[in-house]
Amino acid sequence: MQNKHLVVLSGAGVSAESGLATFRDSGGLWKGYDVHEVASIDGWYQNPAKVLDFYNLRRRQLKDTSPNIAHQRIAELEEHFSVSVITQNVDNLHERAGSTNVVHLHGELTKARSVADTNSEIDIGYSDINPEDRASDGNQLRPAIVWFGEMVPMIEVAAEIVSKADILVVIGTSLAVYPAAGLIHYSREDIRKFIIDPGVPELMSYQGWHHIQKRASEGMSELIKEL
Ligand code: OAD
Repeated sequence: MQNKHLVVLSGAGVSAESGLATFRDSGGLWKGYDVHEVASIDGWYQNPAKVLDFYNLRRRQLKDTSPNIAHQRIAELEEHFSVSVITQNVDNLHERAGSTNVVHLHGELTKARSVADTNSEIDIGYSDINPEDRASDGNQLRPAIVWFGEMVPMIEVAAEIVSKADILVVIGTSLAVYPAAGLIHYSREDIRKFIIDPGVPELMSYQGWHHIQKRASEGMSELIKEL
């Protein structure tokens, strides 16, 4: 069992029990904000101050948020498996729970970069980014978030990881956003595949998935029994 490669593909639902809103559920972030205004590269060009405000708020909220049991159970899987976590989340709750191998597809709230250089990421912790803040190259500093309309730099790395999975666990994501949603198609046919979600995501129309229709924390406990 020790050497099996278990891959977790997570989304906003895994952080819901920590108090962070998901995007598309009722009360989700995209019900209160226009996604194109605050999370797209066009929105950034139109009104950078508004975008900075949105992410400053998310970052301040994250500072006062803790990992929940689901994050902890995922971290504990490392005692039995070789675990890779691929997350669409921009929070750092997987890492704070102890997961050591986390790929962030959509960037990280606690990092910033120059608008002109994708490789200029710096750690900013929970500090705000202000309109006049400059990166070391003299350009405006922006959140190191992958916005709609931008390339997803980690997607090939993530696809390679999924292709080597012996067990695939999809947790708390509607799989509504590509290319992240397409990652499941890189897995081998014969592996065990689980989805933990209280709703019924689109994915359930695919063959071969075991659906644990529960919230992330309870769902992870059930998964551990199954494994
Ligand atoms: P969504 O809001 O689209 O989906 C959240 C999923 O979590 C849904 O399937 C819910 O049923 C499920 N869920 C809700 N509460 C849960 C709980 N307590 N336990 C487990 N599951 C629960 O969020 P994502 O799929 O993560 O991208 O969204 C993907 C991307 O869309 C985000 O990374 C973000 C957003 O636009 C960017 O901003 C670039």
